[in-house]
Amino acid sequence: MSIDVRHSEDADKYLATDQLVWFGEVTDADADHLRLGLPEDQRFVVDLPDGPEDHHAGIYGVRPMEMSLPGGAVVPIAGLTWVGVHPDARRRGVLRAMMTDHLGRTRAAGTAISALHASEAAIYGRYGYGVAVITHQVTVGRGTELTAPHLEDEVAGITTHLVTMSDPGVAERMRACQVANAPDFPGTIIGSPDFFSLLTLEIPENLRDKERRRVLFARRDGEDIGFIGLRREHKWDQARPSGTVTAGTFCGGPAARLAIARRIVDLDLMGTTKLENIGVDDPLLGWVGGPRGTGSLATWDSTWIRLVDLEAAWPLRSYDTDCDVVVEVEDRYAPWNAGRWRLTASSGSGAAERTDADADITLDVAVLGAGYLGHSIGGLLRAGLVRERRAGAYAELARAMRTAVEPEPSIGF
Ligand SMILES: CC(C)(COP(=O)(O)OP(=O)(O)OC[C@H]1O[C@@H](n2cnc3c(N)ncnc32)[C@H](O)[C@@H]1OP(=O)(O)O)[C@@H](O)C(=O)NCCC(=O)NCCS
Repeated sequence: MSIDVRHSEDADKYLATDQLVWFGEVTDADADHLRLGLPEDQRFVVDLPDGPEDHHAGIYGVRPMEMSLPGGAVVPIAGLTWVGVHPDARRRGVLRAMMTDHLGRTRAAGTAISALHASEAAIYGRYGYGVAVITHQVTVGRGTELTAPHLEDEVAGITTHLVTMSDPGVAERMRACQVANAPDFPGTIIGSPDFFSLLTLEIPENLRDKERRRVLFARRDGEDIGFIGLRREHKWDQARPSGTVTAGTFCGGPAARLAIARRIVDLDLMGTTKLENIGVDDPLLGWVGGPRGTGSLATWDSTWIRLVDLEAAWPLRSYDTDCDVVVEVEDRYAPWNAGRWRLTASSGSGAAERTDADADITLDVAVLGAGYLGHSIGGLLRAGLVRERRAGAYAELARAMRTAVEPEPSIGF
């Protein structure tokens, strides 16, 4: 049976389907989430002939976003989100139809890359998405010493300032900082101005026993140069204050991050600082002397990347070493990518050309997505997830795609 995917024409029904799929508390702010989060022409739905009637069978949406790549280019991406299938319509191919639709539309719009955060790890690999960024969730104790001798001069000129996230102008300041820093931190995803308004929206339901979210800005010479979002929670243990401050994603260069980190590990009445989104090569792990300098460390997948148009995507980023390999790409859902490509990188620039030459490597397009932001994919050969036909060819490809520093995790979208 072919499943038709079309534009949403009923915002209430779209929202109701999302609320059913995600079964959270329904609040008046949900409509704001839809309004600010998804442009009307980027909402898509599936209805099946046998229902459900009061909801869609499936929905998805695309946030128009930008992402920074190795080399510093900032390019448009399709931020796939709001994916949900009605519980009665599960496992009947609705998601498959929506993903096929998304890839076709994204390519037709001239956007080479799709990105997402996955609710479950098993869903998106089959559609050609690869785990492109790994993130750590780290806790550190109050007063943890952060050692960075070669940043001290720069840190001395930086001040930090606590403001309330939902206050007027804060969303704009956060976005401006992110735009300025993105080229230096490949993997940074930049949302639209509306998306930042959404991020900073403080809904009453989330404030029942919590403080308003704050933002700690780092400033130098009167300019914002970095920030982190945070929220404190009280706890008293044996009459001693031992609250937790939970902080989001760092934005800023190393010195700005150090100034921010020193303040958030030493906030009054707190015992623990929990950093929810720290890149694998984030300086924090160096400042505390490695994993055991933290209180705890957990590892998760952050951004998943899908090369929707391999030929267009390959030259958008830069490459640290040269390569010249023929890759047989398997791509069931974007057949225009499938087949043999000569992928080259020379003096930093990449080119992808169709070829009839024998393949050096056979791999799924998801592998190229996983390596696209510079994350190491070298281990996938040992794991048996790629096939090498010319000895050394895969290492050549993996080395060229890898960057000196692992890519930056992205804020949830
Ligand atoms: C995840 C979800 C969208 C899947 O939708 P669906 O319409 O049931 O998926 P399909 O029937 O199109 O399945 C396509 C394939 O993916 C597989 N699949 C789907 N969901 C899966 C899951 N959670 N884990 C493992 N495999 C899954 C199916 O088995 C099927 O495999 P096949 O192609 O080998 O037959 C749906 O279960 C859902 O709405 N879940 C709750 C919300 C959610 O997690 N959304 C994702 C947000 S990132």
